[in-house]
Amino acid sequence: MRGQRQKGIQRLVFAVNGQRFELSDVDPSTTLLEFLRLGTPFKSAKLSCGEGGCGACVVLLSKYDTVKDQVEDFSISSCLTLLCSVNGCSITTAEGLGNSKVGFHPIQERFAGFHASQCGFCTPGLCVSLFSAIVNAEKTNRPEPFLGFSKLTVCEAEKAIAGNLCRCTGYRPIIDACKSFAADVDMEDLGFNTFWRKGESNELKKSRLPLLTHNNAICMFPEFLKKEIKVTVPVASEGYCWYSPVSLQQLKSLLQSNEVGNGTSMKFVVGNTGSGYYKQQEHHDKYIDLRYVPELSMIRKDQMGIEIGAAVTISRAVEVLKEETKCEFHQGGKMMFKKIADHLEKIASGFIRNSASIGGNLVMAQRKYFPSDLTTVLLAVDTMVDVMAAQRQERITLEEFLGRPPLDSRSVLLSIKIPYWDLSRNSSPETNTELLFDTYRPAPRPLGNALPYLNAAFLAEVSPSKSSNTTMVKECKLAFGAYGTKHSIRARMVEKFLIGKVLSGGVLYDAIKLLETVVIPEDGTSYSAYRSSLAIGFLFKFLSPLSDISVEISNGLLNGYGSTLLLKNYTIEQNNGRLTSPTLLSSAKQVVQLSQKYHPVGEPLKKSGATIQASGEAVFVDDIPSPRNCLHGAFIYSRKPLARVNGIKFKPGSLPDGVTALISFKDIPGENVGSMTIFGTEPLFADELTQCAGQRIAFVVADTQKLADVAANDALVDYDIENLEPPILSVEQAVERSSFYEVPPFLYPKAVGDVSKGMAEADHKILSAEIKLGSQYYFYMETQTALAVPDEDNCMVVYSSIQCPEFCHVVIAKCLGVPEHNVRVITRRVGGGFGGKSIKAMPVATACALAAHKLGRPVRIYVNRKTDMIMAGGRHPMKITYSVGFKSNGKITALQLEILIKAGMSADISPVMPHNMLCALKKYDWGALSFDIKVCRTNLQSRSAMRAPGEVQSTFIAEAVIEHVASTLSMEVDSVRHINLHSYDSLRLFFEGGAGEPLEYTLPSIWDKLALTSCLDHRIEMIKEFNKNNRWQKRGISRVPIVHEVMQRPTPGKVSILRDGSVVVEVGGIELGQGLWTKVKQMTAYALSLIQCDGTGDLVEKVRVIQSDTLSLIQGGFTAGSTTSESSCEAVRLCCNILVERLTPLKEKLVEQMGAVKWETLILQAYLNAVDLSTNTLYVPEFSSMQYLNYGAAVSEVEVNLLTGETTFLRTDITYDCGQSLNPAVDLGQIEGAFVQGIGFFMLEEYSENSDGLVVAEGTWTYKIPTVDTIPKQFNVEILSSGHHEKRVLSSKASGEPPLLLAVSIHCATRAAIEEARKQLLSWRGQDESDSTFQLPVPATPPVVKELCGLDSVETFLQWTMATKCGNST
Ligand SMILES: Cc1cc2nc3c(=O)[nH]c(=O)nc-3n(C[C@H](O)[C@H](O)[C@H](O)COP(=O)(O)OP(=O)(O)OC[C@H]3O[C@@H](n4cnc5c(N)ncnc54)[C@H](O)[C@@H]3O)c2cc1C
Ligand code: FES
Ligand code: FES
Repeated sequence: MRGQRQKGIQRLVFAVNGQRFELSDVDPSTTLLEFLRLGTPFKSAKLSCGEGGCGACVVLLSKYDTVKDQVEDFSISSCLTLLCSVNGCSITTAEGLGNSKVGFHPIQERFAGFHASQCGFCTPGLCVSLFSAIVNAEKTNRPEPFLGFSKLTVCEAEKAIAGNLCRCTGYRPIIDACKSFAADVDMEDLGFNTFWRKGESNELKKSRLPLLTHNNAICMFPEFLKKEIKVTVPVASEGYCWYSPVSLQQLKSLLQSNEVGNGTSMKFVVGNTGSGYYKQQEHHDKYIDLRYVPELSMIRKDQMGIEIGAAVTISRAVEVLKEETKCEFHQGGKMMFKKIADHLEKIASGFIRNSASIGGNLVMAQRKYFPSDLTTVLLAVDTMVDVMAAQRQERITLEEFLGRPPLDSRSVLLSIKIPYWDLSRNSSPETNTELLFDTYRPAPRPLGNALPYLNAAFLAEVSPSKSSNTTMVKECKLAFGAYGTKHSIRARMVEKFLIGKVLSGGVLYDAIKLLETVVIPEDGTSYSAYRSSLAIGFLFKFLSPLSDISVEISNGLLNGYGSTLLLKNYTIEQNNGRLTSPTLLSSAKQVVQLSQKYHPVGEPLKKSGATIQASGEAVFVDDIPSPRNCLHGAFIYSRKPLARVNGIKFKPGSLPDGVTALISFKDIPGENVGSMTIFGTEPLFADELTQCAGQRIAFVVADTQKLADVAANDALVDYDIENLEPPILSVEQAVERSSFYEVPPFLYPKAVGDVSKGMAEADHKILSAEIKLGSQYYFYMETQTALAVPDEDNCMVVYSSIQCPEFCHVVIAKCLGVPEHNVRVITRRVGGGFGGKSIKAMPVATACALAAHKLGRPVRIYVNRKTDMIMAGGRHPMKITYSVGFKSNGKITALQLEILIKAGMSADISPVMPHNMLCALKKYDWGALSFDIKVCRTNLQSRSAMRAPGEVQSTFIAEAVIEHVASTLSMEVDSVRHINLHSYDSLRLFFEGGAGEPLEYTLPSIWDKLALTSCLDHRIEMIKEFNKNNRWQKRGISRVPIVHEVMQRPTPGKVSILRDGSVVVEVGGIELGQGLWTKVKQMTAYALSLIQCDGTGDLVEKVRVIQSDTLSLIQGGFTAGSTTSESSCEAVRLCCNILVERLTPLKEKLVEQMGAVKWETLILQAYLNAVDLSTNTLYVPEFSSMQYLNYGAAVSEVEVNLLTGETTFLRTDITYDCGQSLNPAVDLGQIEGAFVQGIGFFMLEEYSENSDGLVVAEGTWTYKIPTVDTIPKQFNVEILSSGHHEKRVLSSKASGEPPLLLAVSIHCATRAAIEEARKQLLSWRGQDESDSTFQLPVPATPPVVKELCGLDSVETFLQWTMATKCGNST
């Protein structure tokens, strides 16, 4: 009975940021995050994914142990933690670390000073994650660090934030902020910041960092709570629905009692993290918290092994296992425990492992077939489990446990027992037995926070014989899991085959062939063949160092293999008792040139508002407190691509409890419009016919967001497709049915030169080659959100997280059928936009406005991640067919393209795509260029603008063509790129007016300079050497140029000077995290300082940029296309010029009278003399110079693992021309952030749909954006200051989008590495090595890469080795 009020825990007492909270009657399904956001003033913990996958909601949980008088502190995800489970605990949120009232915490100040916060939505969670690591390091007995530092190591500091996602920064500055606290940090490694200038001594640098003292490195547990806990022991309270039994006996009695008798839906709960995966909001009558039952929380060791209670968290288990490595008596097991611990540390992220229990994981695996890592690893070491079913306790093997029917809801997993694997059991010095153990989990992200494609754990006892140089397998256990099987399994057949065998290439080959018949994913599993090939690769990796092919391996051919496999000889590197491991970001360099010319413009000032973002005080739309009577909405969307909607029903038959209304197109008083662009509108709701899966059909309005979401999810839509044409779901179908959007002639690019002539001049041709590109989702950390508040006289105020409030304003007025002056749209800040909050934010705000209008009550929405992903549309997928003609030296003479752009059910911005695509495609001199581009109208979600829309795709196309040409000619790709770079003359031919003056064409110099700064030639040679010497790892390097055209648009600005001399600024542009406000502040300060009076030196501190309000400043337009910052700056400059002009006569008069005049005096006098101190203007760029080109280049180097297809990004060097940067720190952040978002597009993110076009990548489990472990390990960026650009805003250039295109260099480097792998494979097969032309799809995920490197590479290699051996011996 959803919605019915439950009696929760009897009395719940806890503290948040030292403040006492006492609650009774809590709905037990309430999460801590819900309570924090709705029941406290603390809004820093954010909802972003709601499934434990992003870290935006991280808080610190402190528990007081009354017996030990000790406090335990750890980070947790508050979106999964149930409120009832924090009874007696103290919670610290980012506001609790520090804030604007009591002073900021050094973590917050350093995040701001290292430029580590852009939109700021992720920042509070990151700060708390780091704080948790510092607090725990402080508790160790490590040596006292240098004043201002913590006891953290660099490696720990980086890993502290490993599970936190940030979509804006690209992580490098975040890592710097974290590392700045590490005791072992090398100050030279810390990047660009506001604390010191280049060249200062390390001692000075240290002293400049905001000080970390002992007091702010610990977390105080409130004394009042300690006292209360001492008297209140958690008990099982009758009549309530949350029980905390404190003994096994109590648990047993409870299970026998009527309290949880038959017919009661009851759930055991420990960390509740399982609900992050099984998200269906299951309802339970009763919850039993298992954490207080001592038998479930114990850790016991005896002669036979370690017993771990089922409620013990994974983090604690890791600690325990690591402690075992220090134990002297069972040498062989040491390494095994270390490896298990290492593997467990890749499960989820720290803040999940801190509350996720061992038992919860095992039960999820047993009962619901969760792809567990634990079960696989534990299976390989013969783990036993204790289960209590129907009051009966039994100890069984894990294998048996997994094989039993799903555990019923009343059975309890009590503990697990991992046996000691000591060689003494089975070996003697004579037999010389070795124990081997290893585990594997290739995943989209190496550090974890991603489920593996397959996991494996192998244990073997082998007996090497020195005399014959052979190894015999005495015993082995091979476990595999998570590959699309119900449970982890033991490959018994293979084990049996191997036992007693002397390892040889032949035995390995036979074992592998046998394994192929065992590891077979179930039907419907994605990448099925890939997963099976991983199993083979790992068995090979495990055993081959011991076989007769190991000679080659020990010669270094299998890089690093075998070195840590033999457990007996293993030693742990220790550093003051800490385990050392490599850091994630090994180095980074930022080169910027500062200019004082327009001071403070050009200064690398920290982002405006960065500290309040870090403390969580920055207010996002969902942080605005709900007005009285506020309702909440959720969208019901279509699951069919083209169907009639006959009606919508709810499961109980009528509107569920708490649901107020169901709003559809029938309720619209004005036009059915949800969004608009210059190309047309999209309806707010489908009318009788739904046009795509994911289209909005209706809006459920309920008392809470949770109720609205549940109701929308449960709604049953009655579809009917009779007599309808089949939907258009592919570009081919669109072509067949001539379903296209018209592209206005002024937006359709012009061909260049004569392609037939170019083709005729060519020595070689590639004809009709095909490539396809998929989509990408924005993954802004803040999903779409809005709050609509009805106002007097039929007016509506809407707070929206949107990039273009002006257009939203118009849409709302049209939909409500009211004049535009009745609507006001307010946007203060946006938690990441990337284009996704331009058009797609409009229907969200409009639906709220419509519901508020109809119901006469405020209505808000915070779209859940799944719905957001389904409705977002994202980047345009496309199909490209190209024909290219070229000379034998690689010079291209003609390129002909046919491009089919997969737009959606409405035009959105799609007709602009041909223009955008061609601009970036023309980065090379193609000789002649012609194209036929069709924008296909389909029954798919309308695709929208995403950062560099069209440009990123065409950059890829250009590189694919170049690579194809190089491969056909067997030439170095870099030379083919070079020979096709534009001369200034060809640039003018291709770009006409946009090319600018010859000196502005900086690409050739960037190209050459980058070769030097990145040591390109030397590294090319080193890579050749590496590839020669490494069979299973191949490296590739690639240098890629970009040319990106941007266009300025008219933008308004308004500057008002207040009586005390402070300044208020409004601009058309929206602060999305891109630093627009910061640049605007700098420009205001600069332009007003031209009045030249005393006290304008610190004017920047006196400027406040305020929220955008569509009635206060009209014609705001779009914040898009990379130029809004500069256009807003220019608008403000014009305003300031007017104010300066108005003030000048007065200033001169006052100077005459007083000799000098202070800014404050001047302004006060201006008020007295009635000088108009507020002005606004619309900046309209000159037509002739509104378009200009941006240049940059990148060199990237990667390493591909041929066994797994995983790619490591070793190094990237970027040089990017920013003109004269308005703020180099902001531009640097844009460059790095965009580049990493580009890595996501090219290498990681799969925005997949089902056959109806419904998005199935619904959250962080399936959609993987880059994390801290997927950025280049060396990341060097140089901002080139290309001097004076007369026609640019104070000589500046754009930085928001163009650098994203540079990420294609990573893709190209991967292709180069794969090419090496393929040549090797061809040689093993005895085929022609030059025949290795291939297309590398986007994204180049591990399955894609592995397939190109050969799914059967291991088998092929073994066959080749055996054949070679036979050949040699005959
Ligand atoms: C973001 C994220 C990423 C993850 N990644 C991985 C990964 O890469 N690899 C991996 O292996 N796991 C992964 N997990 C799973 C994680 O390990 C489990 O969610 C966690 O261990 C469950 O423990 P819990 O205490 O939170 O269980 P809960 O959520 O409290 O319980 C889970 C289920 O088990 C039942 N239950 C719990 N304890 C017992 C018991 N002792 N006896 C009987 N029933 C019980 C509960 O009733 C419930 O049905 C991930 C989880 C999240 C949220
Ligand atoms: S919102 Fe909790 S982890 Fe994402
Ligand atoms: S600053 Fe990290 S998501 Fe925006």
